[in-house]
Order: sequence, then C-alpha cells, then structure tokens
Amino acid sequence: MTALDRIAELQREAEAAIAGATDPKQLEGLRLHYLGRKSELPMLLRGVGSLDPSQRVAVGSAGNQTRKQLEAMISAREAELAGGEIGERLDISLPGSPPAPTGHLHLITETRRDIEDVFLGLGFSIAEGPEVEHVEYNFDALNTDLTHPSRARTDTFYIDDATVLRVHTSPVQVRAMIAQPPPLYVIAPGRVYRPDNDATHTPQFHQIEGLAVDDGVTLADLKGTLLAFARQIFGEDREVLLRPHYFPFTEPSVEVDVSCFNCASGYLRDGSLCPLCKGSGWLEVLGAGMVDPNVFAYVKDYGYDPESVTGFAFGMGIERIAMLRHGIPDLRLYFDNDLRFLRQFGAR
Ligand code: DAH
Repeated sequence: MTALDRIAELQREAEAAIAGATDPKQLEGLRLHYLGRKSELPMLLRGVGSLDPSQRVAVGSAGNQTRKQLEAMISAREAELAGGEIGERLDISLPGSPPAPTGHLHLITETRRDIEDVFLGLGFSIAEGPEVEHVEYNFDALNTDLTHPSRARTDTFYIDDATVLRVHTSPVQVRAMIAQPPPLYVIAPGRVYRPDNDATHTPQFHQIEGLAVDDGVTLADLKGTLLAFARQIFGEDREVLLRPHYFPFTEPSVEVDVSCFNCASGYLRDGSLCPLCKGSGWLEVLGAGMVDPNVFAYVKDYGYDPESVTGFAFGMGIERIAMLRHGIPDLRLYFDNDLRFLRQFGAR
C-alpha cells in the first residue's frame, strides 16, 4: 500500500470514528489515536523527508490536509457534544421552541372566574353543592309551594321522588347556612339542569348564586353589591335597575337589569334601534331579592332566627352573562366545541 493510500484509509477510518463518538472523552481518545504525537499520521508526515523525492510533495500535502480536516472535524464534533451536554444539564422539562400549545379556558370557565373574582373582592367566599340534589333543598327549603310549576316532571329531571338534578344553584344557599352560622357571604357557582332544548335553552347550563346574611342587611346593600358587579363585568359607566318580580325564596323579589353598554338609551349613533337591548336601554341579567323569612325558618336551628337576621340573595346564568358581554348569538355555540369559536376566548 502506498503512503497516499494509507493516508486516505486513515482519513476514512478516523472520520467514521469521530462522527460516531458520543462523549467528549471518547473524542479525546480519538484525537490521541489519530493525531497524537506518536500516532501514525504525524509519524508518516515526519518521515516525508526520507521518501523518494518524487513522492514527497504529494504525500506531504495530502497528509497535512488530512490532519487539518480531522482536527476541524474533532472540534466540530466536540462543540456538538458540548451543546448536547449543556442541554441535558438544563431543565429538559422547559417547553420546546416554539412552545407546545397548552390550550386555554372555555369561555364559560373564563366568565365564571371573572365573576368569582368580583365577589371574592367584595369579601364573599365560594361554596359548592352537589348537582344531584334533595328535592327538599332544591324546592321545600326554598319556600317553593307544592303546586309550583317548576316541580313538574316536565320541568325538572327527577332521579326519584326525593332526588333531582338541581334546577338552580339556590339549594347551595340552604347547604351553606346549615354549614355555617351568620355572618355569611357566599357565592355558589355550578351546573344546573332543566329539560329544555332549543336556541335559548340547553338541558345543562351554569349559574352563580349569591347569599349574604348579616345583621341589618338591606335591599340597598343588594343594589350596591350588584352595581359593583355590573360595573366590573360590563364597564364602569353601568347603572342597575331593580324591577319587582316573584321568586319563592325572596321577598321582595326583583329582576335586575344593567344599562346597555352597546348604545345610548336604546339607540345607536346612527339613530337605529340597538340590537343588543332591542331599544330598551337595559339588559336583564339576574334575579335577586331579600331572603324570605320562611327560608331562614327552615334553617333556624343553625343560627338563622328569622326574627333577627336579614339577608339578600341573587342568581345569574353564566351563559347569559357571557352572551351579553361578547355578543354571542346562540347558546349552542358553548357546547358545540367548534375550535373556531372556542379559540376566540379564554387566552391565557
Ligand atoms: N334560582 C333562580 C332561577 O334559577 C334565580 C334566583 C332568583 C336566585 C332570585 C336567587 C334569587 O338567589 O334571590 O331562576
């Protein structure tokens, strides 16, 4: 084998070994093996002078070129391995680049949390209750007459005669009072169920209940609380309007409107009727009232003497709040799970 052939062979062999090296130590071994002072290639170069003069130039330049190429390859491989090593020492649980998509909150969750934040800021805490509820808590304890239409089999999902899928979050009022004497300031978010299914009703939806019981709580406290809520959720210029209504568990009862944030008194700038409030200037957002003494009477053994405590309560639909806030036209969008809809909200 000629010296030139041997150099070519050494280069092929060394290149394969360097490319296959998996750690810096192995690489250092290869450097010694192929380029170290006493290794074959440098020896060969040192012996060029004793070669036949016709071969000296060719062997000398080929040997030098190979040496340089192998040195460069080793440095490059070294850098590669060092990079990998740093990568392993760093936190490999860090997101890649670009970061993997992590998803985001559903609009209902986002809205629930926004509403919770308002009431947490006002000193309320969060209470929860079961979705499968006693008829007693869902209706009786809330002063609901035995003939009230909401008790009908067509209006409520019954599990058995004494058990329903709760039709509202109001039974959590009863549970919260049984669990804790006054003063009590709670909100209760959760799923509720009714046998309806059309553009404006789904069999399952979400509500947030509110209950405040203390000495000397008045309707003015209710109005002030709801005004603070309306301004944080719908904008700081909002007003609230209380209209007389009927609920079994409150007396007096009110329906609460928030001034429309889409128009001025029902009309848009161009003089047309506001499509959001339909020209009334007000948006109905929730039901509320002063807790009926009959509700306190049901839990009087737990510290709620109807003669001495007073309180207010309210209940709102989360879907409705989000629809008004974002101009969502159809309730079913919440549950279709079309990502083109969902991705517009809940960015985190
Ligand atoms: N539970 C009522 C409903 O589902 C909403 C409601 C109205 C809750 C008045 C209340 C209230 O606490 O005081 O329609």
